[in-house]
Amino acid sequence: MAGQTPAVRSNIDRRRAAAYLAGMALLEIITAPDPRLKIKAKPVAKVDDKVRRLMDDMLETMYHAIGIGLAAPQVGATERVIVVDVAREGEKPNPLRIANPEILWRSEEMMTGNEGCLSLPEHYADVERPAAIRLRYLDHENEIREIEAKGLLATCLQHEIDHLDGVLFVDHISTLKRGMILRKLQKTKRTRALQPA
Ligand code: NI
Repeated sequence: MAGQTPAVRSNIDRRRAAAYLAGMALLEIITAPDPRLKIKAKPVAKVDDKVRRLMDDMLETMYHAIGIGLAAPQVGATERVIVVDVAREGEKPNPLRIANPEILWRSEEMMTGNEGCLSLPEHYADVERPAAIRLRYLDHENEIREIEAKGLLATCLQHEIDHLDGVLFVDHISTLKRGMILRKLQKTKRTRALQPA
């Protein structure tokens, strides 16, 4: 997910988080429309060095793009891996490295958040989702973990898990608005392709 407002975290804090991950690689973020964003990602058998590397590179890429969440298909990978950090300005970075996420429970209470996505740059829309979830996943040490999340963290986790099933936040809004956003993104791509390198 894209950072919702600049106040989510200052660039300075982002750079500090990025420095903590120094030595990792920046990956290219795929923007919509692109068939690679529509794939269903595959579970990882085990969180090994290769998956850990992917997680760390994704975190570095996410911090660099001032995002609060990123899913493997957005960087062209096909594993069920997401990274999230919703720590606010002034708070210590709190990166979550997640493989094979499984939502065990969703609250009946719903919440509407104004969502953005690093794969749909500069577009935002209100999306309604369960306000709280319970999640089971494998962490970066291949340990099974369970957490309960609410508020922004719950929204962000659901947004990223959607990516693993080829679902974008615009798939939750009206066909009319989705069409408008995707056409604009397509046009941006065409304009960029026509510009000399
Ligand atoms: Ni996204």
